[in-house]
Amino acid sequence: MQNEIVKLLKKEGKLSEKTIDELSNIEISDFSDLVRELGKEETKYIKRDKISKNLNTKYIGKDMYIFNEVMSTNTIAKFLSMNGVGNGAVVISEKQTKARGRSGKNWESPLGGVWLSIILNPNVTHSKIPLITLATGVAVENTLKRIGIENAEIKWPNDILIQDKKACGILTEAITSFNTIESVIIGVGIDANINTENFPQELQENMTTLNEEIGEKVDENLLIRLFLEEFEKISEQFINEEYETILKEWRKNSYTIGKIVEVHEPFSKPYDGYVLGISRDGSLVVEKIDGTLEKVISGECIIKK
Ligand code: BTN
Repeated sequence: MQNEIVKLLKKEGKLSEKTIDELSNIEISDFSDLVRELGKEETKYIKRDKISKNLNTKYIGKDMYIFNEVMSTNTIAKFLSMNGVGNGAVVISEKQTKARGRSGKNWESPLGGVWLSIILNPNVTHSKIPLITLATGVAVENTLKRIGIENAEIKWPNDILIQDKKACGILTEAITSFNTIESVIIGVGIDANINTENFPQELQENMTTLNEEIGEKVDENLLIRLFLEEFEKISEQFINEEYETILKEWRKNSYTIGKIVEVHEPFSKPYDGYVLGISRDGSLVVEKIDGTLEKVISGECIIKK
């Protein structure tokens, strides 16, 4: 994290060589004011005013940090959260150079996409984290409906697909201290208006963009505003422990339920099964070929049919 913060501040001319020389004596947290300052400066395409103008939320997005380019908005959000930035703050970047996807994968983030991370400080245990990811999927789904995309579906645990192709990914990371959750960083990447020409072939084949689906450019600032509103609605439900309401919405829009899948869980052999549903803790309920039931709490599943 230290490297990322120093590189960002150096690139944006916020750190002099002298300060860099003195770095060994300086705590990285001493730079948090500089990062905040930078996040309040004007950016080219993502416009604070346009997002804030009609933003109908109580706390999500009331504090926004917007950058031209960062390695990963999740890292910046983590840094800011560890240095006093509070619940509901949002970090957005027009571009990311080292964004993280799930399972250690890279996430391509050129100009034209929506790359953001939300800081949440919910009072929950680890077991509730998967539900936050599912809830975020529902928020994206509802956002897409508001811009006219009615046919998006959620592939467990966190991919938003349109006509079988991925248009959005979610990466939830928790900051913990002595086994309690200090805060949760919810990273969302929406492939809005990006040019995928230079993406690896296999990615291109399995992804889509919103402008491709709608047939015209999507307004990124509007998309961000709508998403923040939808996210706040669902996070209120989460905080009020209305988990069944969230799961009901998720199930309604599920791409995975009713399909035959190949399940990949960490540290175990992949197996095939039929997806029966999703349980209260957010795990996938899979019936194996031998009829036994498995609850899959983390991992990936490849759809077979
Ligand atoms: C996935 O693998 O599907 C999850 C992708 C998550 C990408 C987003 S973009 C904003 C945030 N910053 C990151 O580095 N990753 C997430």
